[in-house]
Amino acid sequence: MSEVKTYPIINNPQYEPHIDEDTYHRMYQQSVLDPDKFWSRMAHQFVDWFEPWEEVSNVDFNKAEISWFKGGKLNVSYNCIDRHLKDKAEQTAIIWEGDNPEQQRYISYQELHDEVCRFANALKARGVKKGDRVCIYMPMIPEVGYAMLACARIGAVHSVVFGGFSPEALKTRILDSDCQVLITADAGVRGGKQVPLKANADEALSSCPNVHTVMVVKSQNADIAWNEQRDVDYNEFKKDMEAECTPEVMDAEDPLFILYTSGSTGKPKGVLHTTGGYLLYTAMTHKYVFDYQDDDIYWCTADAGWITGHSYIFYGPLANGATTLVFEGVPNYPSTSRFWEVIDKHNVSIFYTAPTAIRALMAAGDEAVTKTSRQSLRVLGSVGEPINPEAWEWYFNVVGEQRRPIVDTWWQTETGGIMISPLPGATPLKPGSASRPFFGVQPALLDVDAKELDGAANGSLVMKHSWPGQMRSIWGDHQRFYDTYFSQFPGYYFSGDGAERDADGFYWITGRMDDVLNVSGHRMGTAEIESALVLHPAVAEAAVVGYPHDIKGQGIYVFVNLMQGQQGSEELKSELVAHVAKEIGPIAKPDKLQFADDLPKTRSGKIMRRILRKVAEDDVENIGDTSTLAEPAVVAKLIREKL
Ligand code: WT7
Repeated sequence: MSEVKTYPIINNPQYEPHIDEDTYHRMYQQSVLDPDKFWSRMAHQFVDWFEPWEEVSNVDFNKAEISWFKGGKLNVSYNCIDRHLKDKAEQTAIIWEGDNPEQQRYISYQELHDEVCRFANALKARGVKKGDRVCIYMPMIPEVGYAMLACARIGAVHSVVFGGFSPEALKTRILDSDCQVLITADAGVRGGKQVPLKANADEALSSCPNVHTVMVVKSQNADIAWNEQRDVDYNEFKKDMEAECTPEVMDAEDPLFILYTSGSTGKPKGVLHTTGGYLLYTAMTHKYVFDYQDDDIYWCTADAGWITGHSYIFYGPLANGATTLVFEGVPNYPSTSRFWEVIDKHNVSIFYTAPTAIRALMAAGDEAVTKTSRQSLRVLGSVGEPINPEAWEWYFNVVGEQRRPIVDTWWQTETGGIMISPLPGATPLKPGSASRPFFGVQPALLDVDAKELDGAANGSLVMKHSWPGQMRSIWGDHQRFYDTYFSQFPGYYFSGDGAERDADGFYWITGRMDDVLNVSGHRMGTAEIESALVLHPAVAEAAVVGYPHDIKGQGIYVFVNLMQGQQGSEELKSELVAHVAKEIGPIAKPDKLQFADDLPKTRSGKIMRRILRKVAEDDVENIGDTSTLAEPAVVAKLIREKL
């Protein structure tokens, strides 16, 4: 790693960065030497509390028990809106840019307040109370943010389900946390194509008897079915709602939201985040990691259905009183210049996107970028998967013209906020490295015997101590929380990722160590895709592995063993691919599918994915030890029949 290029810290003559390199080291030392003192100071600085907390932290990783600021009282919606009204009522809180480049909306903090209060009152009018779960299945329109903040205002727990998920996936998530209210839209639109959200919701709800209310935000004039008892036309309903709603007083440890993410078993995990620590952590990381300043226009291109959308489109930026851009569309519509045109149109100064988008736009050629100005840009960010050095260099040189630092931010749904990242004014940049830990974050690398490695090393990436943004539990299954994150290396939080640390103490994430794929920055459990496949009557058995993909980072490679009497054909292949998309959603669509009469198994019947991965990766020379295979001939056949 030492031969890697290092770019010195970029000094922007117009801005004094919040954190320079010395400050980083000094604050980092404080944050790990006396964490409670450090976090207490930050909690006063970043959050308005109705009542102070009783204890800063109380953490036991051996029992998976974590609490921050217990007894402290606050409201997230108050912190993201009301407290800014004094100075910023007329400032734009949300810039909305439609899928159609001719559509935009500007929502001031005062308007945001009124809209969120109306939404909160609408939920109350349909019986929603503190602690109730509300599912949100929405396109990227401002109402998705209103709905989230409205839940936070009345103490309801939201569970946002990505609009690209199928009815089946929506149903499982609604049932798992017993959501009784669903907020959706008639339809979404992305790249000029409608996404039938209400129709999907109707299908999902046919097996969710507890859902008594569906709030429908009509935004596309789509032709939809209507259930008089259950469905509410939100735009009509809100006309009778007051633009005032007193925020509920919440404990710092009251649940704020649930967000489902894939694990190594078939069932998605309901990651639970709570109120005080999460808000503090997202606000603080948003300010320091992006060096957010008062006059910035900030844009994160994620969808609200992922943690990045929660923490860095809505909660973090709004807690800091920022102007945050909400984008309905996709990077290549109407053309591959769209991102850069939106940056010019709204004078975006901080831009946060994913490596998969960067690689796709890089493939579209420099001209689509260079014909735009991008003068307003100051800081560039990346998130979701390791960014390969080629894509990093292109982002830095072509998009950023070597004048804007790139913050490559490593974190997870579970961590709530950014954990390892450069800070714009404080960290030299190494293309491909997420670099150094954020304040209070204490990573370590462990070997297979759970021994901490020193200096330059490669191992399992764990955290030695808690941080306020850490998830608190898996909804309805605390044991699974313990088993997943704290059992393999007792006393540590295990991220599931491997990493390397170089001689300068910079971290390089090497990727997941479990059976979880990262496809275009989205986490996909191989077991989930396998479960979907075996639901098809033609499939006896399926095994899913990842392989390197130029744009997506990882592609989905499926081996399918058919039922006796079934014949593999191109038609059946397409049918199975469509079947997976229908069961989970288009993001889970297999890229390659190979029929296999037999899968390589150990004598005890366990599928040897290590071998399948080598076949999928075209790396059969390094297939490794096959002596434990029940039938070694199976592998040769797979290689012969490879696509
Ligand atoms: C996994 C978490 C949290 C943001 C979106 C994804 C991978 C994320 C990076 C990065 C290398 C990264 C890890 C992690 N990942 N960011 N900058 N460099 N890997 O959230 O779906 O919870 O996935 O994404 O493997 O464990 P997620």
